[in-house]
Amino acid sequence: MKLVSVVGARPQFIKAAVLSARLRREFDEVLVHTGQHYDDLMSDVFFRELGLPQPDTNLGVGSASHAVQTARMLEGLEAVYLRESPDLVLVYGDTNSTLAGALAASKLGIPVAHVEAGFRSYERDLPEETNRVLTDHVATYLFCATAQAAKCLRREGIEAGVHDVGDLMYDSMLAALPRAQASEAEVLASHNARPGAYYLATVHRAASTDDTATLRALFEAFGRVDLPVVLPLHPRTRVAMTSARIEAPSNVRVSEPVSYIEMLALERNARAILTDSGGVRREAYFLGIPCVTLRTESEWPETLATGWDVLAGADVERIVSSAQRPRPDAPPPPLFGDGHAADRIVEILKHDPPHR
Ligand code: UD1
Ligand code: UDP
Repeated sequence: MKLVSVVGARPQFIKAAVLSARLRREFDEVLVHTGQHYDDLMSDVFFRELGLPQPDTNLGVGSASHAVQTARMLEGLEAVYLRESPDLVLVYGDTNSTLAGALAASKLGIPVAHVEAGFRSYERDLPEETNRVLTDHVATYLFCATAQAAKCLRREGIEAGVHDVGDLMYDSMLAALPRAQASEAEVLASHNARPGAYYLATVHRAASTDDTATLRALFEAFGRVDLPVVLPLHPRTRVAMTSARIEAPSNVRVSEPVSYIEMLALERNARAILTDSGGVRREAYFLGIPCVTLRTESEWPETLATGWDVLAGADVERIVSSAQRPRPDAPPPPLFGDGHAADRIVEILKHDPPHR
């Protein structure tokens, strides 16, 4: 079987590093980078650090409006699919690269496999929600990270091809954790941080960055917590801060985006994590680090009941009190599988191969 895997954004490189290695033991994989993320620290660093093979093609679409960016991807991907004639196209997550990868394949009658199918926050104005709903509705294989995600698909009438395989991000984390542990003294020193004595924050979603009052509130909250805040800054947020003239408070240590190994080291040692990122939230949960989610809705409401994850939106008081809350007594119950999602995906594709 020949498959084309489509990646384009930071979390997709991290997930593909684990699955791609596993897929290549059984199948012929062509890796396509759409070029949605292109800075060294948003893209190349993950290929180098995680041993992800260099892409066979980089479409180099870069940044643009949703329509222009997605259209460029569709055009480039269609040409790749026509040239390679794959049996399957595999896409990850909920970015514009995901949607373009799935849509271009579907229109050519090529079966689609969607990793992280079924996540829903039911915020229809979120670009990610549009991307995942549309992708799920053209996919043949729907690999879900949680039982709840499979349930969401059933509610939309999608029954066939749904597999609860666990979260590939958990596989990725387990694979990288020994290296993160080995380097953590050095990483913490480079951020001038002491174990358990800082908060780690990330902000990048459109809902956080595109509204000045929201972004201002998030930084106000960061300035009011009782410890330093380490903030590896997504380029989107840097642009938004500059145009809204927002300056980081004095306890906030802003850095460039960090590598995945560095990020895991920072996550493991944080007092709590404050984030609007889907991936970082789940990593906090896997690692047993309390999380304050800077959003009002969640794709995995089941973590909220455990006390490890709190939705605080951009409510300054709520962010501050949630960050400083005590750690829950019981460890986080396993909701995201057992770290063998990649193996399951490969087994399913081997035993039930796609038909064109
Ligand atoms: C995208 C995804 C989001 C995902 C995130 C992961 C969509 C609609 N959004 O958001 O779901 O959570 O990736 O990080 O697909 N930029 C750079 N250098 C880069 C990449 C981006 O400077 O290498 C800046 C540009 O100013 C760009 C902005 O970031 O306009 C936004 O980039 P874009 O890829 O459109 O969306 P993300 O916010 O990264
Ligand atoms: N990450 C990273 N460096 C950073 C910030 C995040 O390696 O500076 C990793 C993080 O550990 C997680 C993934 O990137 O594995 C999450 O990506 P992001 O927050 O950009 O997107 P989302 O998961 O929200 O789609």
